[in-house]
Amino acid sequence: MMAMGLKKSLIAVSMASALFLGANNVMADTHGKGQMGQCGETKLADHMGEMKDHLKAYKNAAKSDDWAVMADSREALLELSASSKEETPFKAQGKSKSEQAKMKGNYQKGMEKLEDLLAQLGEAEKAKDSDKVMDLMQQIGKHTKKGHEAFKQKCDDE
Ligand code: HEM
Repeated sequence: MMAMGLKKSLIAVSMASALFLGANNVMADTHGKGQMGQCGETKLADHMGEMKDHLKAYKNAAKSDDWAVMADSREALLELSASSKEETPFKAQGKSKSEQAKMKGNYQKGMEKLEDLLAQLGEAEKAKDSDKVMDLMQQIGKHTKKGHEAFKQKCDDE
């Protein structure tokens, strides 16, 4: 009798914790934790964070006409843009399949435009055309702002 009682309570305890863990997962989901990670903590957010550093390095190098560092930073930006293009914005999460596909397609076009601007930047560097470099930097800034307005989810802490 004692043994059965113990077994029963063990089953009860493990069922309760299974329920609790299950409930926890549901709660996590409603807070934006899905297969993509949490808002602001995705692979894409990591890539973007790195892009920010390379863009800063590019701007600093451009101020002192350091063409070699500019070329390195631009190449790093281009590589990160290509890997970012493979990701899906966090904002697409929870949308219908067709809306997700539409958003991903538009987002990819946005990343392709960034790649194109970076390629033009390479041409301007080759020609050592500082005015064109500055013009393209402005275009990249504007394009990034638009891309963030369309595809970047505002996280709770923003
Ligand atoms: C050189 C250009 C760009 C820079 C420096 C940049 C930088 C950043 C930074 C710093 C973040 C926040 C990351 C975090 O939360 O830790 C971010 C997020 C994001 N950016 Fe950009 N960005 C650039 C271009 C773009 C473009 C062109 C698009 C869209 C076409 C885009 C789409 C996004 C999205 C969707 C997020 C949210 C990440 C997610 O969904 O998980 N970005 N970006």
